[in-house]
Amino acid sequence: MGWLGAFLVSNLSRLLCNTSIMNKINAAITAVGGYLPEDVITNADLEKLVDTNDEWIMTRVGIKERRVLRDKDKGASYLAIRAAQDLFDRHGIDPTSIDGLILATNTADYHFPSTASIVAHELGCGDIFTFDMQAACPSFIYALEVGANFIRSGRYTKILVVATEKMTAATDYQDRATCPLFGDGAGCVLLEATEEELGVMDAVLHSNGIGKDHLIMKAGGSACPATHETVDNRWHYVYQEGQVVFKHAVVDMCNSCVEVMERNNLTHENITWVIPHQANLRIIDAVARRMGVPYEKVMVNIERYGNTSSATIPICLWEWEHKLKKGDVLVMTSFGAGFTWGAVYVKWAYDGSTVR
Ligand SMILES: CC(C)(COP(=O)(O)OP(=O)(O)OC[C@H]1O[C@@H](n2cnc3c(N)ncnc32)[C@H](O)[C@@H]1OP(=O)(O)O)[C@@H](O)C(=O)NCCC(=O)NCCS
Repeated sequence: MGWLGAFLVSNLSRLLCNTSIMNKINAAITAVGGYLPEDVITNADLEKLVDTNDEWIMTRVGIKERRVLRDKDKGASYLAIRAAQDLFDRHGIDPTSIDGLILATNTADYHFPSTASIVAHELGCGDIFTFDMQAACPSFIYALEVGANFIRSGRYTKILVVATEKMTAATDYQDRATCPLFGDGAGCVLLEATEEELGVMDAVLHSNGIGKDHLIMKAGGSACPATHETVDNRWHYVYQEGQVVFKHAVVDMCNSCVEVMERNNLTHENITWVIPHQANLRIIDAVARRMGVPYEKVMVNIERYGNTSSATIPICLWEWEHKLKKGDVLVMTSFGAGFTWGAVYVKWAYDGSTVR
């Protein structure tokens, strides 16, 4: 073969390897896992700490109880490891088969090293790539889209996306405006390459930065490192101006759902499930109404677990797994600090009823 032959062969093989002319690679969710610590904080427990009551919390937010990881020496990594082990055990996944682990969290074990690196090591995943993602409560939907793009690139075939939060470590139990809201928990999904029209089909992700002063942990970062003063001022806890955040959450979650629906010709009839961030039952109601989706199609567990920040959506998937069928159309939506928000359209890839 002369130089012309060699040139043609080399370019042909490059062309064939180019994913754009091969069948399109999609990123399917092929397994889910979850973990919630056993200990519970009830509204009656909170009544002993601050001036509040069950009636106020139920009517304004819709939370009856939330879970708490009481062990002081265990961080968000512990919850993530338990959730991933649940996924591996129930779905028969070998930890060494994973190519990469993306961990969504706002309550990392440490500033560094990443919680993802700790989790992958404890799970026995080997020297895979790992990193943490922080995009406030929507961190999971951000991580899902990022993980899906790793798969779509054709370079990776299995990515574990974990969301984990020890929100009780960031909650001020002297502040009645925020302490009823948050709980601990973790959920995870496995993304795998497929050529079927299944998986993460579309995502709209947004942020605008105008929310900084309305929902923030004021100290502990490089802009305001920890001092005696920051501790005395209780600046290492969640600070939230609830009403402002509420208004933006309703508008932005509703608009991003409509955006993803219009882009993909989704209607209230062909959507099987809506999975909204579990921050407030009144926000969830507003989103369902705006989408025109009946309440039976909306995953809601806020009453039992409260707001587990980035973990709310994968915990819902984990709880509803047995009801999910191949081809189901899911719309997930979330909102949080920043402000940051978005919606993701997923076509479910397996029958959950077959999983133990
Ligand atoms: C936090 C939230 C539940 C508060 O509900 P709200 O209806 O906005 O309540 P407000 O903050 O306006 O407070 C109303 C009154 O209840 C009081 N109150 C606040 N917390 C209370 C509590 N736990 N128990 C009893 N009363 C309480 C307030 O002091 C205020 O009293 P006042 O009218 O005498 O001043 C709600 O604003 C919310 O869910 N915000 C959005 C949360 C969110 O989506 N976050 C983003 C993702 S994490």
